[in-house]
Amino acid sequence: MSDTWVFGYGSLVWRPAFAHSTARPARLEGWGRRFWQGSTDHRGVPGDPGRVVTLVEEPGASCRGTAYRVPAAQAARILSDLDRRERGGYRRRRVEIGFDDGSSVGALVYVASPDNPNYLGPAPLEEIASQIARSRGPSGRNSEYLLELAAGLRAIGARDEHVFALETLLRAGPSAAPEPV
Ligand code: SIN
Repeated sequence: MSDTWVFGYGSLVWRPAFAHSTARPARLEGWGRRFWQGSTDHRGVPGDPGRVVTLVEEPGASCRGTAYRVPAAQAARILSDLDRRERGGYRRRRVEIGFDDGSSVGALVYVASPDNPNYLGPAPLEEIASQIARSRGPSGRNSEYLLELAAGLRAIGARDEHVFALETLLRAGPSAAPEPV
């Protein structure tokens, strides 16, 4: 068996927490990153979910993330650990990712599609930001997830308007959110 590439675009960018021989910035064409997945096991709880990222198909979009090369000998165990970590609605997909030098490789990516029970879908950015500001779960505050992701994306030279706009709203605090009527 050959080595396996795993493409991370969310928590896997800033906290892979699995063994890998290489980590390289990479991009996935035709997909956009969105805080549209509910989290009841990491950044929220059942009945009061947090929001974490998933990928949505979007022609012309490009999602920058980090590709990790997993040695063949460890791949089965690492993928089973990742399946457990991402079990709140994500499924593995096989995709083609591109590197900055123009080369590409097949990789696995975890995508939470709209048919999973924790999927939340789109909402106004202010609502998403305030949900993130108040949520927390077994893995910690939802705001940590957003702030660490934004920092991790900056570190790999990613420009992601959706994530950075939410970061700005979060840092601005509750006054940025409209008053409830
Ligand atoms: C990923 O990071 O690639 C998957 C989603 C997440 O764990 O945040």
